[in-house]
Amino acid sequence: MKKIRYPRLAYNKTTLIGLMIFLVTMLTFLILLFMELAAGSSNPYVGIFVYMVLPPVALFGLLLIPIGMWRRFKVLQSSDRPDTARFPYVDLNRATHRRTALLLLVVALLYSGLAAVGSFQAYHHSESVEFCGATCHVPMKPEYTTYQLSSHARVACTACHVGEGVGWYAKSKLSGAYQVYASAFDKFPRPIPTPIKDLRPARETCERCHWPEKDSGGQQRLITHYMYDEENTEWPINLLVKTGGGDPETGQPEGIHWHMNTAVETEYIARDPQRQDIPWIRVTERETGRVTVYQDEDDPLTEEEIAAGPVRRMDCMDCHNRPSHKFRSPDFAVDRALLTGRIPRDLPEIKRVAVEATAAHYETEEEAHREIAARIPGFYRKEYPDVSVARRVDIEKAVVATQTLFSQILFPEMKVRWTDYPDNIGHFIEPGCFRCHTPTKVSEEGWTITQDCNVCHSILSQGSEDRFEMASSPEGLEFVHPEDIDEEWRETGCFECHEGTQP
Ligand code: HEC
Ligand code: HEC
Ligand code: HEC
Ligand code: HEC
Ligand code: HEC
Ligand code: HEC
Repeated sequence: MKKIRYPRLAYNKTTLIGLMIFLVTMLTFLILLFMELAAGSSNPYVGIFVYMVLPPVALFGLLLIPIGMWRRFKVLQSSDRPDTARFPYVDLNRATHRRTALLLLVVALLYSGLAAVGSFQAYHHSESVEFCGATCHVPMKPEYTTYQLSSHARVACTACHVGEGVGWYAKSKLSGAYQVYASAFDKFPRPIPTPIKDLRPARETCERCHWPEKDSGGQQRLITHYMYDEENTEWPINLLVKTGGGDPETGQPEGIHWHMNTAVETEYIARDPQRQDIPWIRVTERETGRVTVYQDEDDPLTEEEIAAGPVRRMDCMDCHNRPSHKFRSPDFAVDRALLTGRIPRDLPEIKRVAVEATAAHYETEEEAHREIAARIPGFYRKEYPDVSVARRVDIEKAVVATQTLFSQILFPEMKVRWTDYPDNIGHFIEPGCFRCHTPTKVSEEGWTITQDCNVCHSILSQGSEDRFEMASSPEGLEFVHPEDIDEEWRETGCFECHEGTQP
């Protein structure tokens, strides 16, 4: 019987190409891995390349080696006597066979070791903020930018979007694979729709760090507004927000987090996907089983619509829907810049001019920056020629600050404006709490959901200079609207006039 010498099987093109691919990718892998570790680089592309592209290529090379050898064996076998063995001989008593076997063993061990490191790193990398936020620049820019400015800038995207456990990891990777495809071929919607379908329940994400049983008391908020007048008159509002606690065991089950009270359950049906129009609300008391249903008087749901639902159980995300991606309005952002002095407050009418320059519709960020740089100085040249000359440096400063804030809140390439992502906390620019807390939502008993200005917060002080007022009792002050609007705020929601620009 002719013996086919084992190592000779390797002398064929397929095997040699496989070996080359394997060696070259492994070498690249090692060099890049070393660079990544040594430099602590966080370039998302290096990561993708090292952990996601190289290992499969190396594996492909590795597979070519036995395939080539097998084909070679077949050829040698059929060209010789027909009764040769069906499989190559491996005879460990022969030194060459022993050496080859040993070599293969070492390569296999080395590879599985590196593959283990690689897949561990791949797991981590695909979970990293850089991977989620920075790899797909265009589609993720709005969320990534707002994330970096939020109080969760040190919390990984996946802590909220994936959470723990294999099931959700796999689920996120499946939809992630589609997203990688969508961004590579420019197939993503602009803006990215919200809310996210099938977002993991807050119970399993937010509540790993914040939990409803924790008593959170109250929170003071000092919000400084500037008016759209010549002096940019400052109008601070100092609120005590009655956050309250969610658990009767540990604290007062009252205040805003009453909603998370474990003894009651609030559910609702929304008409629109963004959950801004809520005509039906049901509150169930667990202990007594008592149910109260509030319906919109003006525009109630029909029986069929109620049966069709879907009924959503209220959780943290129904109020805190923008914990990490707040798309601020130009009004808010310019107020901030005025407060911190990035925009000089004593430039006449700068609040109005900066808000208008920011809120105008632009096609690209670059166009916006160019227009802002033209509009603001243009306004002063025309309306205040003296100021234009005397305050040139300050006007320039205002331009730069306005350009910066534009890039933090508006993303024309993704067609993202603050109105696309309403924030449900409050009721100043978006309906928020007033989606339910309005006089038109009435129960069978004739009850409405409270609109009392003092239930959710009390005003500790408001106004400035000669119109400054400070509370002298825990009930706080009655709200004073800075502009005379005939007390219209009593009937009309703030958000109906204040839409994020000049009311
Ligand atoms: C603190 C929790 C949290 C973190 C951290 C977080 N997100 Fe989000 N994200 C949310 C919530 C909540 C929503 C809105 C969900 C909803 O309303 O359905 C959201 C929505 C989104 C959306 C959909 C569009 C939108 O704005 O509604 C994208 C895209 C997104 N996040 C990407 C990211 C990326 C990328 C990161 C990391 C750079 C990140 N998120 C970090 C909580 C978080
Ligand atoms: C990995 C832990 C972690 C997770 C998960 C997390 N947070 Fe937070 N959260 C924090 C930290 C840390 C802060 C910052 C506290 C500070 O600034 O003092 C914070 C602050 C907050 C604040 C107060 C500051 C603000 O922005 O108004 C709210 C509200 C909040 N988180 C809501 C949420 C919601 C809703 C979710 C789920 C979508 C969530 N968090 C998920 C850790 C987390
Ligand atoms: C009928 C329309 C209307 C309603 C309702 C309304 N406002 Fe106003 N608001 C105005 C107008 C007009 C101004 C004057 C704009 C200016 O010169 O600043 C103004 C100015 C303000 C300002 C000064 C700073 C700024 O952004 O203009 C604050 C603060 C304010 N309103 C708060 C509120 C609050 C809070 C509510 C709800 C409780 C409310 N407003 C309801 C029309 C309204
Ligand atoms: C009915 C609306 C609503 C719901 C539901 C809600 N919150 Fe809040 N939460 C608020 C408001 C309003 C504040 C006051 C601060 C603010 O205005 O941002 C607040 C404040 C907070 C804060 C910051 C203050 C603190 O105690 O440290 C955290 C954290 C927080 N909420 C987490 C949660 C979590 C987690 C859930 C779900 C279990 C939840 N909230 C459910 C409305 C709500
Ligand atoms: C989905 C509808 C809905 C939304 C949105 C909503 N609420 Fe409520 N809220 C209710 C209902 C229903 C009640 C209970 C009414 C009752 O049965 O007494 C309630 C009760 C409350 C109470 C307790 C009042 C009391 O009697 O002690 C507070 C405080 C409160 N809400 C604050 C808020 C705040 C703040 C927001 C916005 C951040 C908000 N709610 C958003 C439906 C809602
Ligand atoms: C259902 C609860 C609730 C009711 C009722 C309510 N508010 Fe508010 N209000 C809030 C929350 C929540 C905020 C946001 C606080 C924050 O920014 O942290 C807010 C914010 C405000 C602010 C500050 C807005 C800003 O951005 O400067 C004013 C002023 C205000 N409310 C006035 C009123 C007045 C006047 C009424 C009665 C007509 C009223 N509120 C009724 C929950 C409520």
